[in-house]
Amino acid sequence: MRIKTKMTLIFSLVAILLFFQNCSAPESLNSSEDSKSSASNLASNYNDINEKVIKPKCLYCHSTFSPGGGLDLTDFDTMMESGTIIPGDPEGSSFYTSLVNGSMPPTTPLDPQNILAIAQWIEDGARDATGQIGNKLPLVNAGNDLYIYEPQNTVTLKGSASDPDGVVVAKVWTQIEGPKTLNIVSPNNLTTEVTGLNVLGHYEFELSVEDDKGDIVTDRVKVSLNPFNNLLPVVSAGLDINIQLPATATSITALAADSDGSIANYLWTQNSGPSIASLSNANTKTVSINGLSLGTYVFKITVTDNKGAESFDLVKVIVDPAAIARTFTDVNNTIFKPKCLNCHQGGNARGGYNMETYAQIMSLVVKNNANESGLFIRCWDDTMPPGNPLSKAEKDKIRDWINTNAPNN
Ligand code: HEC
Ligand code: HEC
Repeated sequence: MRIKTKMTLIFSLVAILLFFQNCSAPESLNSSEDSKSSASNLASNYNDINEKVIKPKCLYCHSTFSPGGGLDLTDFDTMMESGTIIPGDPEGSSFYTSLVNGSMPPTTPLDPQNILAIAQWIEDGARDATGQIGNKLPLVNAGNDLYIYEPQNTVTLKGSASDPDGVVVAKVWTQIEGPKTLNIVSPNNLTTEVTGLNVLGHYEFELSVEDDKGDIVTDRVKVSLNPFNNLLPVVSAGLDINIQLPATATSITALAADSDGSIANYLWTQNSGPSIASLSNANTKTVSINGLSLGTYVFKITVTDNKGAESFDLVKVIVDPAAIARTFTDVNNTIFKPKCLNCHQGGNARGGYNMETYAQIMSLVVKNNANESGLFIRCWDDTMPPGNPLSKAEKDKIRDWINTNAPNN
């Protein structure tokens, strides 16, 4: 049904053309003799159309050497490759529509009966001289784009090709662009190695494939060589730090490593806080911080590795009010006895730490320095008692007792 409708349209268009041509002045039909002879002879096959229309009326402007509008009508294959003919669809073929609307050939319109013959030929499948329907182009795929990193200096290009109505007779890889000309090891194989990639940048390769009818199609693939895939350094500023007035200073040591290089630089900065603290040795792993006042500060350590990659960590310094004097009896009765002793007494005191007497407890206490006292550290970092950390108030009580000289009272 669809074909019939189309043909009806074509016939009416041609009829209109015929009508106008018949009404035209004789000189406008400057090729009337020509068209008469060809009209009577033009059959709907490629040979006839080529001999009687294309060669005499089109080739002058549509040869390989001067392809008007890029259109080369030299032979059947170049004509079909142009895409101006869609077999079975005259109206979709600009080859036909440019004739029927009189734009081609530019000054000497074809005889309408010849146009009709061409419409018929396209409608019938635009067969070649041997009666074959137009060649189907081969299919080609140059593969996925590749992103690689130094020091890799070779890649494998993996293309694929097939021909729906024949065979692929030739394949060739060429380099289209890139900061350097590379060596394509097997340019005539679908899969080839490319070597010599040692200049950073983007490269492009083209795979060109030819089928048994001489049709060539191409596809491209990009390869980009990027700087060394550097791994980021890692850094930790450790646990948050708690100091107590009248102390106004502390120091922090960062732990940093770079698994594929080395740490080239440390930089300590203050992120926030109730005042601007003074930092010394801010370009080393251990920073000294002075001039702190009551409140919470945040400091940042940024490390840079030998390839320029950065990582950072943040750490809080909490400055608490000055210690309130606590008695050992109070701390012992409210915290140590009820919360520690069940694991820290007798022959099998856990971790070898017996907490039964003042003297034994003092083995992990540095007077006036809770932050250096194992007893306080293990409570501050929430590892003691295991799975049941102390409250801030309880921690403060232990710290206050230590920082007020840890008396035995
Ligand atoms: C005097 C030169 C000349 C002759 C003769 C000529 N052409 Fe063209 N043709 C051109 C030029 C130039 C273009 C590109 C500019 C354009 O599209 O108008 C072109 C474009 C075309 C196109 C492309 C139109 C499109 O829009 O895709 C087709 C199809 C075409 N010609 C077919 C023919 C056929 C068939 C003949 C012979 C029957 C023919 N031409 C004769 C000069 C010519
Ligand atoms: C449920 C058992 C348990 C309780 C309760 C407990 N601990 Fe421990 N503690 C352990 C174990 C087990 C170890 C050894 C393993 C380790 O160090 O984590 C240990 C180790 C320690 C150490 C390290 C000793 C050393 O020589 O390094 C300290 C300090 C400590 N505990 C303090 C306390 C304090 C203070 C309390 C009470 C607030 C407490 N623990 C409550 C089980 C306990």
